[in-house]
Amino acid sequence: MAALTDSRLTVIGLALFVLIIGGSVNANLSTNFYSSSCPKLLSTVKANMQSAISKEARIGASILRLFFHDCFVNGCDGSILLDDTPTFTGEQHAAPNNNSARGFEVIDNIKSAVENICPGIVSCADILAIAAADSVTILGGPTWNVKLGRRDAKTASQSAALASIPRPTSDLNVLAKMFSDNGLSIKDLVALSGGHTIGQARCTTFRTRIYNETNIDTSFATTRQSNCPNAAGSGDNNLAPLDLQTPISFDNNYFKNLVQNKGLLHSDQQLFNGGSTDSIVSGYSTNPSSFSCDFAAAMIKMGDIKPLTGSNGEIRKNCGKIN
Ligand code: HEM
Ligand SMILES: *[C@@H]1O[C@H](CO)[C@@H](O)[C@H](O)[C@H]1NC(C)=O
Ligand SMILES: *[C@@H]1O[C@H](CO)[C@@H](O)[C@H](O)[C@H]1NC(C)=O
Repeated sequence: MAALTDSRLTVIGLALFVLIIGGSVNANLSTNFYSSSCPKLLSTVKANMQSAISKEARIGASILRLFFHDCFVNGCDGSILLDDTPTFTGEQHAAPNNNSARGFEVIDNIKSAVENICPGIVSCADILAIAAADSVTILGGPTWNVKLGRRDAKTASQSAALASIPRPTSDLNVLAKMFSDNGLSIKDLVALSGGHTIGQARCTTFRTRIYNETNIDTSFATTRQSNCPNAAGSGDNNLAPLDLQTPISFDNNYFKNLVQNKGLLHSDQQLFNGGSTDSIVSGYSTNPSSFSCDFAAAMIKMGDIKPLTGSNGEIRKNCGKIN
């Protein structure tokens, strides 16, 4: 009888063990992931982002974009943060990132600050997710609780970055497909594109639009042409604000621009060009709180793209290189 009880207990014990281990391998992200292992994490990241943005407001936009480009390439795994080495080619110089992805040193500084308070605990992928959310909040946008528990990739792929990051020349159907491949809806596409309410783009990304497209406000095109010559290769890196009105403030002016045919990128104006997304754009242009709410929800969904959890990946010591 005693032996039977023992074996029953063993079976129950084993079942619990399998549940716990299985559960941690499939662990979902959670907002309280570091609440006991690194209680000062959120305040540390926030203070660092405050200081970085007070030095240069655009850096908030750059960090938000880094997070998007991380998540769309094999999930939110910090892969974009890996520097190239003589024997390794990562994502940073893939065409959509080359000469435009920026903010890496801000993430490195935050990582050092976090390593000082909780060494070896917090992933670079999570630091980027928090820093992106803080950027939006600090620049006047919504606040949401960031889900955490991602681990860092041990590799990165230039070809995956080239294939997976949407291009400014893409039409609506292509944009919709690239978002749906990541579990994001048409509404998420429109809301997340509202990230272009902050930041800058280089002439090379919008030249064709301002010289050769017809669904563009004429005076807006003329204004942009003044700092972006028609000749290919000339002034390629000259910058223009993605939101011509308030490029360092996270508001709904991006959508107000679109309904006036003042989208800077071809891909921006695709969202208001007589198609199925027009009504979403007009809605956001008149209702800033519905944009804020949908943007926050879509950021949480984007942050859920294929995270590494459990024993997958690693917690990098230095965001620029694998351990
Ligand atoms: C829908 C597809 C998208 C396309 C085609 C696209 C394309 C671009 C391009 C071409 C630039 C300028 C890059 C350069 O100068 O070379 C840019 C900048 C930017 N993008 Fe996007 N983007 C998209 C979606 C998003 C999303 C979902 C977010 C974030 C939620 C985002 C955030 C930003 C920000 C903040 C900047 C400015 C960065 C800075 O000033 O450093 N974009 N985007
Ligand atoms: C990145 O840009 C630099 C400078 O314009 C260029 O020399 C290099 O070939 C580009 N790299 C890739 C992979 O396109
Ligand atoms: C605009 O179209 C004209 C005529 O097709 C072409 O010569 C020119 O290179 C184009 N410009 C841009 C920036 O695409």
